Amino acid sequence: MPPSTLAPADSPILRTKLPGPIARRIIAEDDRLVSPSYTRSYPLVAKRGHGIVIEDVDGNEFFDFSAGIAVTSTGHCHPEVVAAVQQQAGELLHMSGTDFYYPQLTELAARLSQIAPMPGPHRVHYGNSGAEAIEGAMKLARYHTKRQYIIAFHGAFHGRTMGALSLTCSKVQQRRRFGPLVPGVVHVPYPNLYRRPAGTEPEQYARDTARYIEDWVFRTEVPPEECAAIVVEAFQGEGGYLPAPTAFLQELRRICDKHGILLIVDEVQSGMGRTGKWFAIEHSGVAPDMITIAKGIASGLPLSALVTRAEIMDWLPGSHASTFGGNPVAIAAALATINIIEREAMQNAREVGEHILARTADWPQRLPLVGDVRGRGLMIGIEFVTDKHTKAPAGEQRDHVVELAFERGILFLGCGPNTLRLSPPLIVTKHQADLALDVLEECILNVGSGGYRRPTWGDEVGA
Ligand SMILES: Cc1ncc(COP(=O)(O)O)c(C=O)c1O
Repeated sequence: MPPSTLAPADSPILRTKLPGPIARRIIAEDDRLVSPSYTRSYPLVAKRGHGIVIEDVDGNEFFDFSAGIAVTSTGHCHPEVVAAVQQQAGELLHMSGTDFYYPQLTELAARLSQIAPMPGPHRVHYGNSGAEAIEGAMKLARYHTKRQYIIAFHGAFHGRTMGALSLTCSKVQQRRRFGPLVPGVVHVPYPNLYRRPAGTEPEQYARDTARYIEDWVFRTEVPPEECAAIVVEAFQGEGGYLPAPTAFLQELRRICDKHGILLIVDEVQSGMGRTGKWFAIEHSGVAPDMITIAKGIASGLPLSALVTRAEIMDWLPGSHASTFGGNPVAIAAALATINIIEREAMQNAREVGEHILARTADWPQRLPLVGDVRGRGLMIGIEFVTDKHTKAPAGEQRDHVVELAFERGILFLGCGPNTLRLSPPLIVTKHQADLALDVLEECILNVGSGGYRRPTWGDEVGA
């Protein structure tokens, strides 16, 4: 590996105007050659990463508060993860757990069983992406229960393959012209405490939101004895960084128990220490029947896992598999990642997350555009509104803040129609977080005062 030229990560460093000359050339080629379906919020062209820093192809160094969409949990290229990958790559790149055995499959399954948020014994099915884990969960739910219906939530994001997309209900462009999707999926409301009806008490509102399933769906649309599963994000991610209230999750558990339905908790984004616990569902004390894990599990290598109570995974040989799922190199990265999260990163996520929440607690009162700040650990959402009383969404202003922060060297991503997400690597320091928050605050003030001219990225900006 070439020696890193990265400076100690105590601030972003912008050396060229953005995008720089090399970045511009690559973006032009990308425009010509790569699928136009990708959504790029700003013209970052990454070259290498270390810790929370991403260096672009022109030598500019950014603080990455997106972690490659909540993936690089241990930071970019953590030396222990890189060493584990290098060693495994020299020994065995691939053999396919579909047809052969190798010890990495059982080693990681045993580790996941130790941290799973429901009582064991467990079984694990491996895939390569979050969507694949969800596909597996949907298929297994139908297979095990011999029932067809699956309930998912408004605002949910579970991936883009046809089965997962049938559950996804976050942005209409994600579904446009792809139908008909997998039949048997019904969407119901997900609680949003910030936007609950005026005068309602949070816990009652959360419980009532779950009860809609029994009070309405099971009376009008879905016979409960034909419902295989309820699929829920314990902390809604792409839909707007909304933690599920405990009373809501408890109520879902009650409904599932009453009707013999499986509770599938999608921890693809919220799992692996991001919220300060291994899995976001643990904050509620509710035990799921299955969980899906991906993103942060292997610090950037493609890997996903479907973890279930053992008796549920009763499908016969040939029912479901994947050539690459559980690749030994990805598993080596996962085992190193789990060690780092357990040793220090999860505790750090808790501490730095609390620090960020304390620092931003008065933003809804103090800053224009900020309606709500919410989150757990290093999964924090800032919701933008044009009017704090009507709570009218300020999606365009949120986009401007994300762009302006990029121009100042900090990488954020939006989520939902009008929320900005903070999802840095779990090893971020308080100092780095403070610096990013200083910049973010300035950007919000600038956009809020109307002092921001949106760049067309043909222009050069920054530096
Ligand atoms: C909660 C959740 N589930 C599933 C997915 C799909 O994961 P992937 O993009 O790896 O298929 C995502 C991706 O953002 C996600 O956030």
